[in-house]
Amino acid sequence: MIITDVKSYTECFIQLANVLDLDENRMTYHSMRVAALAYKMAMNLNSPNLLEIFWAGLLHDIGAFGYNDFTISTADSISIIEKEKIYKHTLKSSFIISHELPGEVYKVADFVKSHHEKYDGGGFPEGLSGNEIPICSQIIKIADDFDAALRIIPEVSKDGIYNMFRENIDCEYSSEMVSLLIETMEKEDYFGQIEFGAQVPIITNAILNSLPEYKMFLGTDLLEKITTVFADIIDAKHEETLGHSSRVAAYSQHMAEVLRINAKDVMKVKLAGFMHDIGKSAVPRTILNKTDNLSPYELYIVKGHPVLTMDILRRMSVFNDIVEIAGYHHERLNGSGYPSGLPAENIPFLARIVMVADVYDAMTSGRRYQKFISREDSIDYLKSQKNILFDADAVEALIEVSSRELKNLAAAKKPERASD
Ligand SMILES: [Fe+2]
Ligand SMILES: [Fe+2]
Ligand SMILES: [Fe+2]
Repeated sequence: MIITDVKSYTECFIQLANVLDLDENRMTYHSMRVAALAYKMAMNLNSPNLLEIFWAGLLHDIGAFGYNDFTISTADSISIIEKEKIYKHTLKSSFIISHELPGEVYKVADFVKSHHEKYDGGGFPEGLSGNEIPICSQIIKIADDFDAALRIIPEVSKDGIYNMFRENIDCEYSSEMVSLLIETMEKEDYFGQIEFGAQVPIITNAILNSLPEYKMFLGTDLLEKITTVFADIIDAKHEETLGHSSRVAAYSQHMAEVLRINAKDVMKVKLAGFMHDIGKSAVPRTILNKTDNLSPYELYIVKGHPVLTMDILRRMSVFNDIVEIAGYHHERLNGSGYPSGLPAENIPFLARIVMVADVYDAMTSGRRYQKFISREDSIDYLKSQKNILFDADAVEALIEVSSRELKNLAAAKKPERASD
């Protein structure tokens, strides 16, 4: 059993929202703005579900990773196939929240499921109407649409936005919900505060720091479950890296066991394996998918991903002790790596394990910019770089582990998501 506090738990959801919104198909700070606005509206309503509404705002579109958020906001103008996929994101989001994330967040699955229902019954996925739609879902919906209105209609005035919502009373929203939105915006000029994107993470952080002290009891698999969801998001970004993070996690874990490292550190390298590439969420697909050589600028973007990985991990207290283990996977013992070109003495042993696991999987899984290399050739290469680029013990451990057909083990099929 792990005891954590509500802030550390919620920090993970803020970073899940951040990783989703960093994708180039998405809108930066969308999930965070929806959460911040929904939270304020719930406060004005004296809702007993403040925390749940904040979580629901952060995670409402988690099932839509990889989709284009613009199409989510303009669902009326797209093809039936696309529409079907978009309808399902509500179900997929609520499935991830109820079945894949650990702890009490399952309580918000139904609020999230109904965040695209319309007051007149014309929404999805169930066509609920009026009071059948949970109040929390109605709040998320109007906050979601407010964020879209701010971005999609350029230079629209505050009154223009308010009128747009007023015109949709009784079809999209109840009149109470529209009044609540406008009241919330007008109180202490919240509109002015939340209008600018750069303010949104600051507001979100202030909400995080105002959360009541509250201890939570969670299973020991808390961190593993969260990292698996992060890994799914990043691996889905790039079809050829599908399963990469979970394989790196499995290789790292088994290498650490071969090296007879204590159980706590085995868990650290496993989690670092899942998380090492989360910084790639901000690298555009055009660069990840490019077959030609990268331009100096593109290379600069790619080489920045470990820095972002570390930045995201630092923002979650529960992951503070794996920042370097995950973030140094492109450093090399002779100082030729990136982002910092660290010398060997500054690269901890656990980071050296993840480094070798990452290189081996990149070579043996074959990517566009790097052809598939057989296990034997990959091992020959790693051996040739012992004590030059890679740690000798880590290479030996990888050799032992790779003979066990771990690839199949790591890629073992997970139970399918209800709405996949
Ligand atoms: Fe949505
Ligand atoms: Fe949304
Ligand atoms: Fe990687």
